[in-house]
Amino acid sequence: MTDTDTSPPVAAPPATARTSPPSPLPGPRGLEVVRAAVDLKRDPLTALRRAAARWGDAVSLPIPPWRLVLLNHPDHVAHVLQAGAARYGRSPNYAELEPVIGKGLLTNDGASWRRQRRIAQPMFHRRPLVAQLGPIVRRATDDMLADWRARGDAVFDVVRDTHRLALRVAGLSLFSRDLGGQADQLARALAVALPFVQRRTESIVRPPLWLPTPSHVRFHLARRALDGIVQGLIDERRRAHEQAPDLLGRLLDARDPESGAAMTDRQLRDEVMTFLLAGHETSANALAWALHELSRHPEVARRLAAELDHVVGARPVTVDDLPRLGLVTRVVKEALRLHPPAWVIERLALEDDVVQGHRIPRGSIVLLCAWTTHRHAAFWPEPDRFDPDRWADGVPKARLAYFPFGGGQRQCIGEEFARLELELAVARVAQVARLEPAPGHRVRPCPGVTLRPDRVLVRAR
Ligand code: HEM
Repeated sequence: MTDTDTSPPVAAPPATARTSPPSPLPGPRGLEVVRAAVDLKRDPLTALRRAAARWGDAVSLPIPPWRLVLLNHPDHVAHVLQAGAARYGRSPNYAELEPVIGKGLLTNDGASWRRQRRIAQPMFHRRPLVAQLGPIVRRATDDMLADWRARGDAVFDVVRDTHRLALRVAGLSLFSRDLGGQADQLARALAVALPFVQRRTESIVRPPLWLPTPSHVRFHLARRALDGIVQGLIDERRRAHEQAPDLLGRLLDARDPESGAAMTDRQLRDEVMTFLLAGHETSANALAWALHELSRHPEVARRLAAELDHVVGARPVTVDDLPRLGLVTRVVKEALRLHPPAWVIERLALEDDVVQGHRIPRGSIVLLCAWTTHRHAAFWPEPDRFDPDRWADGVPKARLAYFPFGGGQRQCIGEEFARLELELAVARVAQVARLEPAPGHRVRPCPGVTLRPDRVLVRAR
């Protein structure tokens, strides 16, 4: 399926042809369920990996009030996202994101989602992206490198810088506005809002948001700050009566094919918020993880610099050089394999299904965990090793052994955007700077709405 295909998924046979009656899924029973619940809350990445190692490719985790099902095999991932997608809908946990991003493309569904996706899609084709993104990423990366130079020998946290870079790139390319000045304000608001919604997805009790509890008040203040930034973007464009050829322009000009009506203010706000957040938070974390790996693997960083020297020479790398920079592509792919920012995709089983001879009951929440599938030993030799050269022969044995951008009709609309941004930023950094990890510092993965490194402390040379 191509990324422009927004037709509804076709009905498909169950993942595994049924010869005998389906059996229940393996998984923890009795007291083991309590332990699994505690582990999952404390350290979900390790808990899910252990569950797959112990019970296999399809595991039932009946943790009240949910019936979670972890599907770890690439064929199962393909079944849920592609061939059998009609049997699965958005997980109810996506609704917890709605107080922040509303009903934008990520949380929307059905005919309204299809219409909105068609409106946005042309902005994300490779050709317009290549023309437009190159100079924006170059400038944002060069500004980041200038900041690093000004810091001299000091240790600093790369995560803050990559968030500013990705926010500037998203702001300039999607809304023609440099949001660098608002990066700290946005980061502060997101540091409250995203953990808040994540905690709600993990809680059995979800009190209504109008209750004035201290955490609700903090959340509402954070949301107001985010709304202020987004509404500012929309109001400024309307006041200026400009016709910018960007995503915001396209959203403002879009008319319903039947009624001829423009998007409502609410829909417009939700789409802008969705693209602003989805368009920078994931890329920022991916870039931070890639730079972390380069700082830990100086031999790869040296080879990257040599490749750039050979292909590009002394001039600054451009987006047109990327097709000839194989190692750059492999470094980004491998960083996304080991540290997929969208570390888990959830779906709700709308009807009973059968996977690998096991019954998935209607109402189950299916977890497709890129973190674990990207480490599946049958598809990835030495799965924990950062080894960009594993990509030298092309694609993995099964297509959805690797799905950092999801799959099927809900595949990330910004995949090409993110790849270009990441490859160009990594290449430019490798051309100019060498990163050294701060001695003794261990980077901790924080699996929330996205998979974020807590801090990546380095020195730049
Ligand atoms: C490394 C960066 C990125 C990663 C890892 C990533 C990952 C993903 C994944 C896995 C999904 C599918 C979620 C699901 O099926 O439930 C998704 C959807 C989405 N992404 Fe990305 N993304 C990235 C960058 C971007 C960028 C740069 C943009 C926009 C400029 C963007 C916008 C979106 C939107 C709007 C959706 C919802 C699409 C739909 O449901 O139609 N993403 N992303």
